[in-house]
Amino acid sequence: MSINSEINKRKTFGIISHPDAGKTTLTEKLLLYSGAIQIAGAVKSNKIKKTAASDFLEIEKQRGISVATSVLTFEYKNHKVNLLDTPGHKDFAEDTYRTLTAVDSVILVVDCVKGVEEQTEKLMQVCRMRNTPVIIFVNKLDREGKDPIEILDELESKLSIKVRPLTYPLGIGSRFKGVYNIYKNSFAFFESNKTKIEDEIQTFNGLDDPELQRIFKDETEKLKGDIELIDGIYDDFNIQEYLKGNQAPVFFGSALNNFGVKELLDSFLEISSAPIERETTSGIVKPTDKSFSGFVFKIHSNLDPKHRDRIAFLRVCSGKFERNKFYYQVRLNRELKFVNPVTFMAQSKSSIDEAYPGDVVGLYDSGQFKIGDTITEGDSFMFKGIPRFSPEVFRIVRNLDPFKSKQLEKGIQYLTDEGLAQLFTQELGNRKVIGVVGELQFEVMKYRLLNEYGAKVDFLHMNSFKAFWVVYNSDAEIEDLLRLRSDSLYYDKNDQLVFIANSQYAYNTAVEKNPKAVFLSAIEHNDKTFSIDNVA
Ligand code: G4P
Repeated sequence: MSINSEINKRKTFGIISHPDAGKTTLTEKLLLYSGAIQIAGAVKSNKIKKTAASDFLEIEKQRGISVATSVLTFEYKNHKVNLLDTPGHKDFAEDTYRTLTAVDSVILVVDCVKGVEEQTEKLMQVCRMRNTPVIIFVNKLDREGKDPIEILDELESKLSIKVRPLTYPLGIGSRFKGVYNIYKNSFAFFESNKTKIEDEIQTFNGLDDPELQRIFKDETEKLKGDIELIDGIYDDFNIQEYLKGNQAPVFFGSALNNFGVKELLDSFLEISSAPIERETTSGIVKPTDKSFSGFVFKIHSNLDPKHRDRIAFLRVCSGKFERNKFYYQVRLNRELKFVNPVTFMAQSKSSIDEAYPGDVVGLYDSGQFKIGDTITEGDSFMFKGIPRFSPEVFRIVRNLDPFKSKQLEKGIQYLTDEGLAQLFTQELGNRKVIGVVGELQFEVMKYRLLNEYGAKVDFLHMNSFKAFWVVYNSDAEIEDLLRLRSDSLYYDKNDQLVFIANSQYAYNTAVEKNPKAVFLSAIEHNDKTFSIDNVA
């Protein structure tokens, strides 16, 4: 098969949602359709959740939340689908944001009872930053939710994106009868059933088909009215607008009941993009470019506790990746060869000989990778767009076992390389501070430091508001910072100066007194001058 047909076969995407909207359930159902797992009917939904193919980290099992991002690859209707799973919990949002840099499109799940929630908005902002195409799945139609028109309105206003329903539900909750496909003129009958895998679909000849009247009786007029209203309010679906991230098609269904899922998957395959081009420090790289390139968006240690291995997840962006070939690690300026690259099906990994744009390859890593690293066939550019956000919670590291200082250092080094947290070292005093997005990450860190490195730590409270990367040209530009706020100055792992303000006031004063310096609340791994506001 030619490299172009390999590329066109691939769909690399992520499912995102506010926790509990149904991301895990939908993921399981997609895997079910693809034949990648056979769990329908055999397992109750909470059991599915506990043994979810993507839940493989020990701590994740204990807490029932998705901490680690995993990659699920399956074949469906002549496509190779790479689903990059993301943690649902908001304390691990940064992991999700990074994973979104490695996908080509996204399915956003919204709960019809709760509508657009806090995390839905934040995730959507991240998608908007790089114009990722989004399909919206309004879930849990079997529950008494908001009126569909109201939901559509809320999606458009809160997510700042044009929406276009491709299907429309008839009734909701106990009155939910099924979903009308506006473009195909067909109706899928709802049946409360967690085990079936095909929806019963009837096709009509337009909204005036007498058959429609026979089936829906009094409800027909309401359906017709709603569809007319939709056609009047929303622009027609335009695939180009969707691919540019300007318009989001909307589907309705119930993941738990396997309803509307197949339609979603089929439409996704039909409209979503093949691997897209990406920006680097020296221009655009196209998937069809001959020369291989890719970047590391995630690093994970010890997926398999028996082997204590560490794996870097590499997204292939151009050319063909081959096992046993020497590649160039740009940051280290070093040639590396990968003897045993792998692909994933959650816990199970299998060796691969080659991979194409869109694929995610797992590379065994003995400490040579950091998030954002680029690997090429010799070119020395770096991929752009991999964000690092200002953490929101900071704690001082306290070593509880002085005999294990080396292990602690190594553990912190490795876990922060993975992006689980960020390390800041005080310029004066050498104090080590860990910054995270949410409290839960401290517990994960404590657990992993003890279980994987034998290091016992405590994290001490610290008065802090937010961290800002300081961009400046000479010490004279930050004279006030150096003189009056030196105890709030730290270095991150890339030796970039960071100001951890202990209050909004301290930040405002610092900005005022050091007008030539730039204070950034987010930067890119490979671009020090990049800023994203209002996301983290
Ligand atoms: P998440 O990954 O986005 O956090 O959500 P998840 O799939 O775990 O779903 C959250 C809850 O919503 C689960 O119930 C799940 O069964 C339920 N759910 C998902 N899709 C639907 C749907 O279409 N209809 C209805 N009624 N419920 C749905 P739970 O009680 O938290 O867990 P469980 O005991 O059911 O597993």
